[in-house]
Amino acid sequence: MTEQASWQDRILKPDTAVEQMKQKAALRALEEVEHGMRLGLGTGSTARYFVDGLGAKVADGLDVVCVPTSEATRQQAESLNIKLAELDDLKRLDITVDGADELDDALRLIKGGGGALLREKIVAAASDKMIVIADDSKKVATLGAFDLPVEVNMFSHGTSAAAIGDALAATDNQGAISLRGGDSPFITDGGHYIYDCALGQMNDPEALAQALLTVPGVVEHGLFLGYATAAILAGTDGLIEMGDL
Ligand code: 5RP
Repeated sequence: MTEQASWQDRILKPDTAVEQMKQKAALRALEEVEHGMRLGLGTGSTARYFVDGLGAKVADGLDVVCVPTSEATRQQAESLNIKLAELDDLKRLDITVDGADELDDALRLIKGGGGALLREKIVAAASDKMIVIADDSKKVATLGAFDLPVEVNMFSHGTSAAAIGDALAATDNQGAISLRGGDSPFITDGGHYIYDCALGQMNDPEALAQALLTVPGVVEHGLFLGYATAAILAGTDGLIEMGDL
């Protein structure tokens, strides 16, 4: 009789150091998952390792129900036979596990590098815990080196972009604002555009977050303030855990 390989033997095998770090962070987060949980599944290359590991455990009998934060994650989860549901039906989730483009000491995040910020924020807001998984290069002293994504309605989006510039100026922030994709704009799962704001160093994230939401046409922005409850960062010296896992 042939023995079935363990779930660890059936997951992706990254071949670069940084990819291995991302997977280590993802697999540590997987240890927090318990039978019967309702989970939010993040988007991006790090979240992909979490979904991959989860799929292997589901194949071994783990019973969870999940809400994906993007069509890409939905496809991955479906390919692994992970049970999915609508957030409207579940109402609350136990844990969302997602990546980030930047995080600071206070677990404030910039997200949306993959363009999924709107669904990511809706799902994170409905979760009792949000665990960020990343390699340790994502940890910064001051947010802003990564361009801040702002998702906007397509209608008269140039007018919204100008008003985003005003919101930056009103909060003592400055930097170029560019339509993601340029002449072939990137379109989000929700059918919107994204403007990326190159701030360098962000001043007063809370004030900026508020100001951006007053701009007509802004659907959401990539500042996640008060959502993450913990972070698992993988580096060459091992894992660092922040917050309450
Ligand atoms: C997608 C995101 C991702 O979580 C973020 O871009 C990090 O991605 P990666 O793990 O590939 O570095 O916010 O909208």
